[in-house]
Amino acid sequence: MSRSAHPAGPRYADVLPEGHYTAPPTDLNALDPRVWSRTVTRNAEGVATVGGLDVKRLAEEFGTPAYFLDEDDFRARCRAWRDAFGDDADVFYAGKAFLSRAVVRWLHEEGLNLDVCSAGELATALDAGMPAERIALHGNNKSTEEITRAVEAGVGRIVLDSFQEIVRVAHIAERLGKRQRVQIRVTVGVEAHTHEFIATAHEDQKFGLALAGGQAAEAVRRALKLDGLEVIGIHSHIGSQIFDTSGFEVAAHRVVGLLKEIRDEHGIELPEIDLGGGLGIAYTPEDDPREPHEIARALGDIVTRECAAAGLAVPRLSVEPGRAIVGPTAFTLYEVGTIKELPGLRTYVSVDGGMSDNIRTALYDAEYSVALVSRTSTAAPMLSRVVGKHCESGDIVVRDAFLPADVAPGDLLAVPATGAYCRSMASNYNHALRPPVVAVKDGAARVIVRRETEEDLLRLDVG
Ligand code: LLP
Repeated sequence: MSRSAHPAGPRYADVLPEGHYTAPPTDLNALDPRVWSRTVTRNAEGVATVGGLDVKRLAEEFGTPAYFLDEDDFRARCRAWRDAFGDDADVFYAGKAFLSRAVVRWLHEEGLNLDVCSAGELATALDAGMPAERIALHGNNKSTEEITRAVEAGVGRIVLDSFQEIVRVAHIAERLGKRQRVQIRVTVGVEAHTHEFIATAHEDQKFGLALAGGQAAEAVRRALKLDGLEVIGIHSHIGSQIFDTSGFEVAAHRVVGLLKEIRDEHGIELPEIDLGGGLGIAYTPEDDPREPHEIARALGDIVTRECAAAGLAVPRLSVEPGRAIVGPTAFTLYEVGTIKELPGLRTYVSVDGGMSDNIRTALYDAEYSVALVSRTSTAAPMLSRVVGKHCESGDIVVRDAFLPADVAPGDLLAVPATGAYCRSMASNYNHALRPPVVAVKDGAARVIVRRETEEDLLRLDVG
């Protein structure tokens, strides 16, 4: 398309990599339901609302940047996962995506279990009343203290990730006079089609014990000999932000293969398998994620079929979605501060947050959408890059976006689908104060994680 066709959209076809937008979206004011949480819409004045509350008032009351989490959407997604998997399976929410005490209570009320991977996540879960038997502890290097706290609390399972840990957990359980239920995490050798840093089932990485070469079978052999352990099953997690079910199907096939080997060697049928999390979500309208019922059907079918072929009873299945539950339920609200037009390139729109509240763009090249939400505009689309206020040029929130050309300081922008791995990976870089998380429901908003203050920062700095 020629430059003159879009005076305010300089050469976007040249500067955007192949596969990205080749033309501006037709309606910049639209809030596409594929990327926004369920209750987000615009009111008669054109201001975006969530849970019935307008973002200008939310910004006045809670400040920016801030994450706004749509509680009804979160609960609906929990129920969709529960209903899809039914009573013969367990859904463990992966707390690393985002965890707070309010979230733990919602999970509990909606019948989900919880996967934690640190003492801090465990403490949050227990403090908010999640029954210990509904908690799973993960991690490739759990400390003795973390293991001890988990065993003492009576967590439902610990997922063992190394030969050392098999012995460590057994020891600690025996010392406490307990028998700890454990799963063995295996690496199934699947190449998940996702960013290298968030793929976990190929062999050359730190998680799990490889099926190939027999490490996984050896781990089971060792664990079965130890009195402190009750081996309940096998665990596999192939990675994150995955859009097709085929990787999960291969994983299921290989995990059931191991169950069969175990039956043949030890004469026991392990009663559970966990196929991890990793289901992708839509960050932009181009992303086309699978629904929980599709993944439930695909996994249920393959496990049933493979078990029938192997002459095994169908084990109890569990899954661990994090992003797919919380990711789509929140957006980050920012205020525009400065705007810099680079003639012939693009316009840099700086907001009052950045890589401290969303590291995913810098770390994984993640793509996000963005919209002007404090008003509508009829201005032409302008190729923009939404950047933060941190002292480095990689501080990008949304790499390629079209915003109305009249976007101005003081406008509010919102980036959808920031519920997962944004607040939980937030930092104090440049001594930024980490933003609050505000839950919104039925016309009411309440802070569930408050904004950090300078006092918080200085309290840790003991001179
Ligand atoms: N289960 C296990 C054992 C995991 O390691 C993970 C994620 C999950 C479940 C949940 O995966 P999910 O459904 O949320 O994709 N920080 C990265 C993602 C790291 C995921 C680590 N493990 C990101 O921002 O994309």
